Amino acid sequence: MKRTWDDELAKLAQKEAAAIGGGAPRRGDAPERMSARQRIEYLVDPGSLVELNMLAEHQCRDFGMDQKKFPGDGVVTGYATIGGRKVYLYAEDVTVLGGSMGKVHGTKIHTLLKRAREHGVPVIGLHDSGGARIQEGMDNVYGTTGIFAEYALNSGIVPQIVAIMGTCAGGPAYSAALADFILQVEGTGQLFVTGPALVEEVLGEKVSHEELGGTLMHTTRSGVTHRTAPNDRACLELIRGLLDFLPQNNRCTPEAKATGDPEDREVAELLEIVPIDEDKNYDMKRVIGAIVDAGAFFELQEAFAKHLVIGFARLGGRAVGIVANNPAESSGYLDADAAVKAARFVRTCDAFNIPIVTLVDAPGFMPGIAQEAGGLLRHGAKLLHAWIEATVPKISCVLRKMYGGVIPAMGVHEIGFDQVLAWPSAEMQMVRAEPAVKILCRRELASAKDPQALLEQRIEEYRDTYLTPYHSASLAVVDAVIHPKDTRRRIISALRLLEGKQPPERLWRKHSNIPL
Ligand code: HXC
Repeated sequence: MKRTWDDELAKLAQKEAAAIGGGAPRRGDAPERMSARQRIEYLVDPGSLVELNMLAEHQCRDFGMDQKKFPGDGVVTGYATIGGRKVYLYAEDVTVLGGSMGKVHGTKIHTLLKRAREHGVPVIGLHDSGGARIQEGMDNVYGTTGIFAEYALNSGIVPQIVAIMGTCAGGPAYSAALADFILQVEGTGQLFVTGPALVEEVLGEKVSHEELGGTLMHTTRSGVTHRTAPNDRACLELIRGLLDFLPQNNRCTPEAKATGDPEDREVAELLEIVPIDEDKNYDMKRVIGAIVDAGAFFELQEAFAKHLVIGFARLGGRAVGIVANNPAESSGYLDADAAVKAARFVRTCDAFNIPIVTLVDAPGFMPGIAQEAGGLLRHGAKLLHAWIEATVPKISCVLRKMYGGVIPAMGVHEIGFDQVLAWPSAEMQMVRAEPAVKILCRRELASAKDPQALLEQRIEEYRDTYLTPYHSASLAVVDAVIHPKDTRRRIISALRLLEGKQPPERLWRKHSNIPL
């Protein structure tokens, strides 16, 4: 038959329409749940999506699959712009075979991931999938495992953000876990390795999707999820907000934005927020809000290890990572979860050239069997390791307590910090006054006429001599004791100074070995 333009263009339009149509309509979905394409359209600049591999189809012939062809194979992949910035992105289409990840579906994603790395462009993945496609059996290895490999190879080169917008089970759950940031939609986004049916079969336990992998579980217990959103739209807006703090790739810095907040603004209210009485607690997030540009703080993992706060903000218009103890939660004690949370964040900031500021007020690492047995050492070591490897500008400011293990964990010069500032209220010492005096003066106290009075006297002397920031300043452990109202401008001044900081030469090695 003679070919005509009309026929050929009609055929293309028909195939594209079939791809856009996806599979069967979703059953019982809440109206605010969007389709894969609606999600992308809402996320990116209008009309900017260029789809790739739109017409790819699975090649499976088993289980009647040769009768079920869906152009695109259940995932929309392509590139677009967000606020004018290029991104690669994919969105799984749950209407096609449950969004399951067959060989072609998986290959579309890992090809895109590889291109993102080669082109230095961030990746955004919108997940809504039942996992490896059961009908395709071992053919799934190519797709799913290829995605794992590309995510791992991309790590530290381009930012990778995933959103869990529906079920994300099995293989896709691991690919999400290999990304830099995981966002999750409340009520509909569920993330687990094995679904409730398998849990019941293996363990005889009945659990709901939500109990097993909902937002409550992943924000408070596993710590896997960085942010949650009440619905699809809010989640997509969060992605845009997060992307704002990140560069295109590891060879550039995040774009500076004018915030209108003067760099030399005094923050007198810090004296109201932070009580001088060390036994009184306060919310460190109020301190962060007072210091950063326009009070805007993009917190991550808020409900996990709440005693340590992490997130992004701007200082003088430039993106910074904040790591801060929060005395309002468990007196700010560090523990294994806090160490892991901070370590990952430090590595993320370092990979993407984002300077880090710590705000310190922690009495120590949480003592006791639960923490020691829970791997405090191996998790705490991850944090030390992360600080020492990080070459981005690092500035610490000690507000009140910085005792023992907190000293390396929150920032001194020897761990690689460029500037260490302290408030006049700072107490920096290996051991707190009472236990120190009881050990040092044991014999003297034992033979004293009034041991209690002597103990109090010696504690007072120890405090006055060794617990002041002036002691640390005299040893050059801190670079400056500053008035709290100057905190913002001193940190910004240090950041400006460090803008040209070069990573030091290091001995050749394949890579460091992360603490176990
Ligand atoms: C093929 C799948 C599928 C899958 C769901 N579907 N998961 N098809 N492969 N993995 C299909 C269903 O058959 C159904 O098709 C439609 O999607 C909707 O599924 P339902 O079960 O009806 O929906 P729901 O009740 O919402 O439950 C969703 C679900 C459940 C929790 C995801 O389907 C489920 O548990 N699926 C299996 C999850 C799992 O164990 N995956 C791990 C795979 S192994 P119809 O035609 O009826 O509408 C893996 C390891 C990777 O991923 C490692 C590789 C190297």
